[in-house]
Amino acid sequence: MKNYQFLQQKYVVNTYVNRGVTFVKGEGVYLYDEAGNKYLDMMSNYGVSIFGHTDKEITQQLERQLRLITTLHGSFNNDKRSEASELLIKRAGKTYINVYWCNSGTEANEAALKFAVAATGKKKIIACDHGYHGKTLGALSVTSGEKYRKPFLPLLWQVEFIPHNNLQALEKEIDNNTAAFIVEPIQGEGGIYVPNKNYLKKVREICNRRGVILIIDEVQTGMGRTGSLLCSQKSGIEADILTMGKGLAGGIPVGATLINNKISAVIFKGLHTSTFGGNPLVCAGVMATLNKIDNQLLDYVAEMGSYFLKELKSIKSSSIFGVRGQGLMIGLDVKIDRNNLLKKLQGEKILAIPAGETVVRFLPPFIVEKKHIDETVSKLKQILT
Ligand SMILES: Cc1ncc(COP(=O)(O)O)c(C=O)c1O
Repeated sequence: MKNYQFLQQKYVVNTYVNRGVTFVKGEGVYLYDEAGNKYLDMMSNYGVSIFGHTDKEITQQLERQLRLITTLHGSFNNDKRSEASELLIKRAGKTYINVYWCNSGTEANEAALKFAVAATGKKKIIACDHGYHGKTLGALSVTSGEKYRKPFLPLLWQVEFIPHNNLQALEKEIDNNTAAFIVEPIQGEGGIYVPNKNYLKKVREICNRRGVILIIDEVQTGMGRTGSLLCSQKSGIEADILTMGKGLAGGIPVGATLINNKISAVIFKGLHTSTFGGNPLVCAGVMATLNKIDNQLLDYVAEMGSYFLKELKSIKSSSIFGVRGQGLMIGLDVKIDRNNLLKKLQGEKILAIPAGETVVRFLPPFIVEKKHIDETVSKLKQILT
């Protein structure tokens, strides 16, 4: 058998930590390595595989589309693109009237930033400490974290960082040059930080009153992850610009930037385009995915999330600093070496991912069952107590 780990490390640019396991197949909540060992996937590829691996309906829709047409530039009309766009816009909320399609979360944020600048003629953006919006240069400019930013300074325009969940700081930072405030409803990569219940609502009020565009990044929290299609819907508010990605297309690379009429009014031909954006294959994936996300599923996500949180909180260990999250977006903040804990879990054939410096993050697929959560918690108990 070929040594795939060796080959990958030899030929792929060395920007990823290598987790030392080669997966060749996925089915439901499990990933299988070369030897056929199965691993419980409690991270769904950083939140992408929301229905687990090789979901039957999604795979069928994608296969069907592969045989019809896979790629078609945005300057041509397409049945799947128009239908997927309508479906997403209708499900996202009344305020959104158009969607810009691209291929990743970071690209969705690139578009968001350009749209905000185009709409205001201003270039100051306010972002949050611990915020994560991607690593291309525009998105990196609003991403917090010395490690990612320092080698590339100066980054774009004028970006000011304020503490997340702090309304006074937002009020104070806004001035006449401010174009937009970009925020995640729950911070994911930064460490699973859930703000106060009324935070987003108040942010919306401040942005309205001060004439600042609100960009809500739901790349991680969207697509039902927190128990509603969009996390911001729980706060009863809508953004001016909303970004999505991850599992939106059933595992096919995707990004989406949704805009309201104020933003739509300033968009001109050629302002922002993408060869692959909104291709028919992706749009077939979007339709298949959205059609599977109904209230019953969202309730199930909320129920499983509450159960997982409760069970994690029941672990009595001095190594745990805290447990936080919403729906199936959960962080276990630890006082011990987090990476070592991830390694030990992987040794027990359970996959989780890091967030921030001290958090073990769980983003399980929405098909996760109590028995999978019990298995995870029981292994954690063994390791931590
Ligand atoms: C909130 C948020 N925004 C943007 C991104 C970037 O998405 P991508 O890795 O698809 O570029 C991520 C990725 O984790 C994210 O969590």
